[in-house]
Amino acid sequence: MSKQFSLPRGTSDILPSEATQWQEIEAKARRILSTYNFAEIRTPIFEQTSLFKRSLGQTSDVVNKQLLELVSHDQEEGFALRPEGTAPVARSYIENSMDRQGGISKLFYIGAMFRGERPQKGRLRQFHQIGVEVIGANTATPYLDAEVIALNVALLRTLGVQDFRLKINTLGSPRDKEHFSQALRKALGPNVGALCEDCRDRFGRNVFRILDCKNSDCRAVVARIHPGHGHLSDESQKYYAQLKDILQSLKVEFEEAPTLVRGLDYYTHTVFEITQSSLGSQDALSAGGRYNDLVAQLGGPQVDAVGFACGIERILLALPDENKPQADPLMVYVIALDEKIFPKAFSILQKLRASGISSDMSYKVSSMKSQMRAADKTGSRYVVILGEEEDKKGVVALKDMATGEQREVKEDKLITILQG
Ligand code: HAM
Repeated sequence: MSKQFSLPRGTSDILPSEATQWQEIEAKARRILSTYNFAEIRTPIFEQTSLFKRSLGQTSDVVNKQLLELVSHDQEEGFALRPEGTAPVARSYIENSMDRQGGISKLFYIGAMFRGERPQKGRLRQFHQIGVEVIGANTATPYLDAEVIALNVALLRTLGVQDFRLKINTLGSPRDKEHFSQALRKALGPNVGALCEDCRDRFGRNVFRILDCKNSDCRAVVARIHPGHGHLSDESQKYYAQLKDILQSLKVEFEEAPTLVRGLDYYTHTVFEITQSSLGSQDALSAGGRYNDLVAQLGGPQVDAVGFACGIERILLALPDENKPQADPLMVYVIALDEKIFPKAFSILQKLRASGISSDMSYKVSSMKSQMRAADKTGSRYVVILGEEEDKKGVVALKDMATGEQREVKEDKLITILQG
């Protein structure tokens, strides 16, 4: 049969053999997030295109090159699949007047994001994030930045990721950012010719992005200009110094990365990224930062905010095999030795399930050998065998697949024994 349809490039099927890992990661994430008092929010997977243009920045790569827009019959409104979760959460925060509920909104989401990128290892067009956003008035405290960073580190550790590096930096206030961009243009100006094509374009559109370009020529230019923190106001410097002190007191190890700027426009002050070298060129497991002006920019109240998002596919790539969650094996496989006994075996199967014991059978009476092979494939811990002999005696044969030991047990004791 010829193949007619195939998976869209940059997407993947999460097959039954992998789904357990996903469920386990999501369950562990939910547990740790609820310990930190975060509540789940689920926003639509598509939003008005203008929401992303306004928040992520017209010049960001995500908006400029990667938005997957939907063809809509409604001419007035353009929609796009969400490339990230922060802007949709900010939109929902405003629309649901969450600021009026008082206090801080600590929100998390787990879901699919979409970016029309060139697919490669760790870079997909549909990928999944676990993200958190802390939003509220007067919450611009380095304690919250530190808490969010510490949560990100704890989350990755809980999931079993090892050997990752946390890099932090500050961009300062919007005014500091403006000074920084002017200073960068001045310093980079004489070297524009030495930059890669993308960065020559970024020089006019989004000069910050030149700092974290991976091209070796661009890196050499950036190393020569030594971007530092000269653009920061005293207040911003103090905020950053406090953050570092708190992280140290929490024993969260970090490296300072003055060239870390992040690709989305909404960040001010703290930015951070967690990387793992085994991932190759797409080495960011997680990233985030502070965005105090985004909600107001989108027409909401002036509230402060900080958050991060980790990529689940990249977490899975980074997990050592021994830390990858395994599916619970099936408990029982039921074998009927002949057609006459099948209805009885089928009814035992239903009783096992009604008692919460995971179980299955082959539904077709074939040889004992082939049914045992089928049982083996499911990895079931026990096999329950029922033939005419056993039926007459009111027993079943219970075989422990790990030890190979087989014994007769009274049919009406089977469930109690398995539950014991
Ligand atoms: P981001 O750096 O664009 O930030 O994405 C966060 C994480 O999502 C990355 O570190 C990576 O693990 C994963 N990721 C991004 N793009 C892809 C892709 N094409 N394929 C696979 N994984 C990918 C944000 O999205 C911000 N909204 C984070 C944030 C939340 N900042 C504040 N709050």
